[in-house]
Amino acid sequence: MAIRTALTDRLGLSVPVIQAPMASVATPALAAAVSNTGGLGSLGSAQLDAAALQAQISEVRAATDRPFNVNFFCHQRPQDDPARAAAFRARLAGFYADENLAKVPDPGETYLPFDEARLEVVLAARPAVVSFHFGPPRAEWLTAIKQAGCLTFGSATTVEEARDLEAAGIEVIVAQGWEAGGHRGTYRTSLDRAQVGTIALVPQVVDAVSCPVVAAGGIGDGRGIAAALMLGAVAAQLGTGFVLAEEAATPPLYRAALAAAGEGDTRVTRLFTGRPARALVARYVTEMTPHEAEVPDYPLPGPMVRPLIEAGVARGVPDFHPLWSGQAARLARSEPAAAIVARLARETEDALHRR
Ligand SMILES: Cc1cc2nc3c(=O)[nH]c(=O)nc-3n(C[C@H](O)[C@H](O)[C@H](O)COP(=O)(O)O)c2cc1C
Repeated sequence: MAIRTALTDRLGLSVPVIQAPMASVATPALAAAVSNTGGLGSLGSAQLDAAALQAQISEVRAATDRPFNVNFFCHQRPQDDPARAAAFRARLAGFYADENLAKVPDPGETYLPFDEARLEVVLAARPAVVSFHFGPPRAEWLTAIKQAGCLTFGSATTVEEARDLEAAGIEVIVAQGWEAGGHRGTYRTSLDRAQVGTIALVPQVVDAVSCPVVAAGGIGDGRGIAAALMLGAVAAQLGTGFVLAEEAATPPLYRAALAAAGEGDTRVTRLFTGRPARALVARYVTEMTPHEAEVPDYPLPGPMVRPLIEAGVARGVPDFHPLWSGQAARLARSEPAAAIVARLARETEDALHRR
């Protein structure tokens, strides 16, 4: 028996499960498999230019006629801070020497926020859902996306952010608890006030806004999904639970690290990109945490860290890789995405009926 909520009815889903958009991990094959099994598949498009985005949307469309979500980052562009960049460069020098790498590259904006070129792709493709991390897009862009018939989602890590997104015109709030893997969506609350766990955050957001709320963070199986529904959510968004999916673009060293991880093996760090994000702790995080204040603002550190990540991948070691993971690490399973969604549906029904 399908579990119905306002969101499953609106999108025609048979399972109240969203595969989280995951830049560099989600693939068109993953999104299509999830959507074909009755959940909502998502593309993490933050790192794609307009042409690559167009290609990925076409791939999803070729594999499914079901609804899917395309996600973007809406960050403010950073200020250059040469002193901080120099300090960070000096800290990285030892790792570069260990890996026999040449000079640390300059900081750079590898990832640009949502822009007109990608807006045009969205307006032409009209995916069922368009979602935003790090705040809402420009008002006129949001209006155009809604007029094109897309349902818009935005991530909130506090009640303040949820209210702000609703006031901006976002139609569904993704309440992201502190347990969540990957980047915190936090964009207008200080990080020390944006560390609320999912079980506390979701009902407070539900009470504060009138639009539907999706729960995200630390939900790894049907027990968590059932709990999210009890808290008033219309669906659960799982990231870590899909990182080991066969269709995900997760490198083998990342898969191995997550498969061996425990609930306490993650921390929220700015060390990879300049924005707080939850990852498994490996050598780079351990050794650099005391120097986190020197990390340039998002996304400037990207090109400086990239050669280390690539060197680690070439040697098959996780030392420098951003091993994004939430606290429900032990619940992730290596299965085809369709099997994950079917299992989550079964487990959710079992959990709801047991009560
Ligand atoms: C590998 C990975 C990449 C992520 N990338 C994105 C992203 O590109 N956009 C986004 O809105 N959220 C991203 N997230 C956060 C998810 O949307 C979601 O909030 C989180 O995964 C939920 O917590 P969980 O990992 O415990 O399920 C990412 C999460 C992970 C694990």
